[in-house]
Amino acid sequence: MPPGLSVAMAAPEMTPLAKTGGLGDVLGALPRALRNRGIDVSVILPGYRTALEKLAGDECEVCGQIEVPLGGRREEATLLLTHVDGVPVYLVQADRYYDRPQLYSSPDGDYSDNAERFAFFARAVLEVLRMQPHHLLHCHDWQAAPAIAFLRGQSHSYTDLVNTKTVITIHNLGYQGVFSVSSWPLLGLDDALFHYRYLEFYNQVNYLKAGLVFADAITTVSPTYAAEIRNPESGFGLDGVLRERQDCLRGILNGVDYDIWDPQSDRLIAAQFSPPDMTGKRDCKAWLQRHLGLPLDPDVPLIGMVSRLAVEKGFDLLGWAGDALLARNVQLAVLATGGRELQAMLNRLSSMYPARLGVRFAFDDVLAHGIIAGSDMFLMPSRYEPGGLAQLYAMRYGTVPIVRATGGLKDTVVEFSDRQAAGNGFLFGPYTPEELLSAIDRSLHWYRTDRWQEVMANAMAADFSWERSSTAYLELYRRLVDLPLI
Ligand code: GLC
Repeated sequence: MPPGLSVAMAAPEMTPLAKTGGLGDVLGALPRALRNRGIDVSVILPGYRTALEKLAGDECEVCGQIEVPLGGRREEATLLLTHVDGVPVYLVQADRYYDRPQLYSSPDGDYSDNAERFAFFARAVLEVLRMQPHHLLHCHDWQAAPAIAFLRGQSHSYTDLVNTKTVITIHNLGYQGVFSVSSWPLLGLDDALFHYRYLEFYNQVNYLKAGLVFADAITTVSPTYAAEIRNPESGFGLDGVLRERQDCLRGILNGVDYDIWDPQSDRLIAAQFSPPDMTGKRDCKAWLQRHLGLPLDPDVPLIGMVSRLAVEKGFDLLGWAGDALLARNVQLAVLATGGRELQAMLNRLSSMYPARLGVRFAFDDVLAHGIIAGSDMFLMPSRYEPGGLAQLYAMRYGTVPIVRATGGLKDTVVEFSDRQAAGNGFLFGPYTPEELLSAIDRSLHWYRTDRWQEVMANAMAADFSWERSSTAYLELYRRLVDLPLI
């Protein structure tokens, strides 16, 4: 496909090297899907301790030293190159910034120098582009976004990159990288850009906004979320910017890496299965009950959750509805990370209902797969959900989603009913315990009938592969670099 479209993705996470959430999974799969379609995609990632440890022993070449301007001085890094499933990955190694136990925070809160860590990363991204020119720079989330402001707001320093097109993807507008005005000098941008039309945000510096105001195109991870974030209720203060730039904004639904999430080949689960023979799923359910110390019972409806313990994921709502839910004849399996207060709420419920609620606070891949495979239903009562991946994983395993009708959940789950026999799950709208319980009760109703097999089959048949979703990115890139669509 001459001249061969090349794209550099700058991102703070990529499965399996570094992951705290869904963004990591997207970077673990989308670049590969695009490469399969003939696009030359590379990824640029901070050289975190976890990433370098995972690579130990693997082939990793040193490409050279880079130097970037940062707050009036110059900072150095070593640029490493490795390949993950055939995707070239550049790691910016700077141990003073990235050789730490976590990506963004310690148990006491965010690292105090995050403004500097990611200003540095964003500058380093442009040095990689200088060494390795690409047609297009695709930044993900606030940690990479300032690169676009450097490129466009300081173009005299990057004359060699003027033709590079830029895309920013918002994975979650709730996280913007907002820092005190004292961090402004780090960026080394003209003071005229500390203005509400550019990076200034209520007298602070907003890294995500740096990308939103300068990018050639803005995407987010579902069409519904792309519409929601233009409203004050969901815009986290940036809805005005997004309304102004709405012609450049579109939602592209995330996909699933079915090499990792397929019950037919998943080696992390107790037994593999695929329709029509679903006996393996019963084994997975028994494994899950045993693993969490719940009574072994193949017939009791088992509801699973795998999530970060963030308020936006709906845990406050679960807290309000918890007693009423666990008074029903159900089991609940929860795997979660983070959020001390929400942990206390779940611990209280599990001590009151030990035979109904099994909960673990950890990052545990085996249990995550175990819950997705072994549960009957999968609950995501999110306050908001840009894309959501877990509901898509669950569907593939015949685990029926019960979700709040918001963002990507609304775009992927269809209510099953007598009138809607093609439905694949259950949805509720208003953020109230009554509505949540009503959706759960509808699922319990169908669970007790023969038609549950239909609901499961519909969920399993849904195709959310990246092969499909990557087409929209491909079209966007081709339009931006002015190549003919194929
Ligand atoms: C963030 C969002 C989630 C989305 C993921 C990947 O984690 O909260 O909804 O699926 O990014 O785009």
